[in-house]
Amino acid sequence: MNDVAELRYNGKTYKLPVIAGSEGEKAIDISRLRAESGMITMDYGFANTGSCTSNITFMDGEKGVLRYCGIPVEQLAEKATFKETAYLLINGHLPNRRQLTDFSVLLNDHSLVHEDMKIFYQNFPRASHPMGILSAMVNALRSFYPALHESEEEINITVTRLLAKVRTMAAMSYKISLGHTVVYPRPDLAYCENFLNMMFDSPVRPYQLKPEVIKALRVFWILHADHEQNCSTAAVRVVGSSRANLYAAISAGIAALWGPLHGGANQAVIEMLTQIQKNNGDFKSAIGRAKDRNDPFRLMGFGHRVYKTYDPRAKIMKKVCDDLLGALSIQDPLLDLAVELEEAALKDPYFIDHNLYPNVDFYSGIVLRAIGIPTNMFTVMFAIGRLPGWIAQWKESMDDPNWKISRPRQVYIGETLHDFVPIDDRE
Ligand code: CMC
Repeated sequence: MNDVAELRYNGKTYKLPVIAGSEGEKAIDISRLRAESGMITMDYGFANTGSCTSNITFMDGEKGVLRYCGIPVEQLAEKATFKETAYLLINGHLPNRRQLTDFSVLLNDHSLVHEDMKIFYQNFPRASHPMGILSAMVNALRSFYPALHESEEEINITVTRLLAKVRTMAAMSYKISLGHTVVYPRPDLAYCENFLNMMFDSPVRPYQLKPEVIKALRVFWILHADHEQNCSTAAVRVVGSSRANLYAAISAGIAALWGPLHGGANQAVIEMLTQIQKNNGDFKSAIGRAKDRNDPFRLMGFGHRVYKTYDPRAKIMKKVCDDLLGALSIQDPLLDLAVELEEAALKDPYFIDHNLYPNVDFYSGIVLRAIGIPTNMFTVMFAIGRLPGWIAQWKESMDDPNWKISRPRQVYIGETLHDFVPIDDRE
């Protein structure tokens, strides 16, 4: 017999089917609730609401587990390339050698950006935030590559085009912001190497690729590649649900990621640590402010909607951070400060009671600084990493037999019916 939950209200009992996931998660299906009872559910911030079933990513927030298509993120961070991880998320399985070669050829073939797009870049005001530019430029890709996603092959090309071009576009925006010549992608370089080279190579100072830096970037991107129904992924699915094109959906995802409570936290962490450094390293008052209900300040890089224990990505990121700074012999005072801050916060009853632990963004900014990425590009780095996840989730939603346009409801609490008042009769 199928599992059901019962809701009793006003002397009536409503039977609600229970859906179970492959890892034992359960959900009460309320899709017939309004039709049968006239009521809707209320769930601010969708904290208890499932919007889909998914085969892509599994998280257990209590145990600190993260798996992509069943594979622990720790194993992928250790053994996989970012390209393999992207393929895994988008196709549901790891590629064999032939599939990986075909994927690499496609990525290489689509890695150039239309030369006319450079003019857009040149005309953004210099102080524009790179996330705003990236979101606008990804939306603009639709005008340059208007092919519809009708056949499987067209969808594949659009997907590969995005994966290949967003990386080029991000590096291009950095070069143009400096007033430097754009460095083009090279067919002899792998995905991470190519990005680093486009960012940092210069006619007057050829860039030396270092294995430790390549490894750090690879792991950084793998750790960010998907995180089930987070704010930006939900935005991608919501925009995609209206059957807007993939570029528009990804552009919306980038805009959502920009916020400091989401991907923008990696930039906000460095800004917070820099501010603490300016205050003579007084991290205790930052902790005090974070605990003060009357102060909107939050400890950036701490807390998570799903993880109520240490974010598994943060553990790996801290190790990447230590290894990278050690290998490059970098002494970053912000790292020492971050370690002190973490230790003090983890001992503080407020953080213990609220289950607040470092999240992926806490140490990632220090890794990006060591690589040489400017602070205002940090969230762009997150976006490049999250792109395979957004694409995979968009593809899954397009094939979902339960697909519906996303359209939440509300409980209206405004004025009740009253007549229009002509302007001369108003107070
Ligand atoms: N510092 C101080 N207090 C916090 C923090 C924090 N970083 N995060 C949550 N709290 C408190 C919050 O004030 C609330 O307290 P109370 O119950 O006493 O009112 C309680 O913890 C629950 O917080 P919430 O805002 O209801 O939790 P949420 O699930 O809605 O928010 C969050 C999750 C990530 C937005 C939040 O923890 C936060 O703002 N963190 C700082 C920003 C950050 O690091 N974001 C990156 C998240 S990881 C990357 C990503 O995937 O986006």
